[in-house]
Amino acid sequence: MARRVLAAVLVAVGVVGLSACAPDTDPSWTPAQWPVVGRMLTAPPPPVDPAGIALAPQRIRNDSVRVEARWAYLPGSQPLNDAVEATVRAAIGEQSTASGVGYEPQVFGVEAALRERGCVAGVTALPAADLLGAATDSHTVVVCEIVHAAGSTFGERLRVVRGSAAAVESDQIVTLYADVATGAVGDGASLIGQNDLLWEDVVSVARRAAGGLSLSQVSPPSDEQRAALSRALQDASFVDGELVVPLPVGFTAPELEGLAGWQTPDPEHPVWVSLPRTSYDPALTEFGRVIADAQGAFAGPTTAGAAFDRTSCDLVPCMALTMDDGPSGLTDGILDALRDRHSAATFFMLGRNAQNRPDTVRRVSAEGHQIGNHTWNHPDLTTLSDERIASELRSTADLLRSLSGQAVSTFRPPYGALNERVLGVAGMPAILWSVDTRDWAGPSDADLLAYSVSAPRIGTIMLMHDIQEGTSRIMPQLLDGLLDRGFSLVTLSKLFDGQIPGGIVRYAP
Ligand code: NI
Repeated sequence: MARRVLAAVLVAVGVVGLSACAPDTDPSWTPAQWPVVGRMLTAPPPPVDPAGIALAPQRIRNDSVRVEARWAYLPGSQPLNDAVEATVRAAIGEQSTASGVGYEPQVFGVEAALRERGCVAGVTALPAADLLGAATDSHTVVVCEIVHAAGSTFGERLRVVRGSAAAVESDQIVTLYADVATGAVGDGASLIGQNDLLWEDVVSVARRAAGGLSLSQVSPPSDEQRAALSRALQDASFVDGELVVPLPVGFTAPELEGLAGWQTPDPEHPVWVSLPRTSYDPALTEFGRVIADAQGAFAGPTTAGAAFDRTSCDLVPCMALTMDDGPSGLTDGILDALRDRHSAATFFMLGRNAQNRPDTVRRVSAEGHQIGNHTWNHPDLTTLSDERIASELRSTADLLRSLSGQAVSTFRPPYGALNERVLGVAGMPAILWSVDTRDWAGPSDADLLAYSVSAPRIGTIMLMHDIQEGTSRIMPQLLDGLLDRGFSLVTLSKLFDGQIPGGIVRYAP
């Protein structure tokens, strides 16, 4: 080994010496090649622009447990979403244990301004102290960033920091990759099977960049170095076919020590090594090859903003908006406002109105909202015969199901008028409400808005009407106000986690 090093150095020196004084050179001679051609970088890879990727953004904050988290689901990729959610739950669980307080979803006043959700480009590269400093007295902060979106493959990076701006206690990164075509999911370390091969390449590039001329074999990593490289792979990225690996703080190797150009990376001087495909290819796992091979625009879901019911109401604070008496000419505007805010609602439709607006019924369902039965003609059901009750509900359910393809398994009795007989004939849950906005009684927009933003609690079912102009006008501000308080707006079915109880339902306990 020592002889190879010496030979390499002599060759390097000899080339200079020979060309200066030797008259006859061998034209077929070529200088020795360094085995790895890679580059050292002193700036992080550019963030991925998540525009055009349909994500379901999430956010929580709990001031008793002292935790806040932002993350995003990718519609249609359950294995990825499960892995993302498990990471968030683990961070919350650890903080909950540390603080000795059980976690429950929490809502706030509008001044909490929790509307912005999901991932932010570049955020996982910020100093941990900045992330903790920007938090509201939280001891654990989770942020996310989309780091990969090509072909059918996608990568979301989650960073979990603990401590305070003055004293960071821990700082963990996990990047979750998915192939939405196959459902395969793995973290950053799962892309590389031959960790030792990658170690050699990384050290070779660093050695050369630091001025080292040696071509000697890089010694294999210690277990500790191997683990550090695995952690670094969570923070690695594919950029234009190259694999960009951050060198961990304090990174060193025997081959680098004593080199004049070598500076051990520290938080003020971070360093990345960018490796070409020829270098890292032999180290890839099968899954890593799928991610590395992916090219072109992201071919995942692109229906931006449609309501996506992946929400977990034991994790985020949920409530249900319900809209009665439509559809009407105002319904599309309300749907736009919901779509733009990744929010869902439940529409209790009248058969006679649905009949005239089949496209609106289809849109409600296609965008992820729930449809309920509000009868055909809006009668007081308690005044009707059993047969008339049954026909009011059946005709409406048949029409709504045929238009939307959605099973209609709940009803709301007009005027809330209900008795045991009506319940028995209907044979499905009767959905009433715990907050009545009285939007039909002619309130000013300001009063309607102030009441409907402030009245809901977690589990509230709120009554509104998509035939009321006031409701239509305030809808964007109402949704923003509820989101600012931390609420997630979900369908009734989601509010009860798919298990709506029988009988009369006013709110979710
Ligand atoms: Ni009604």
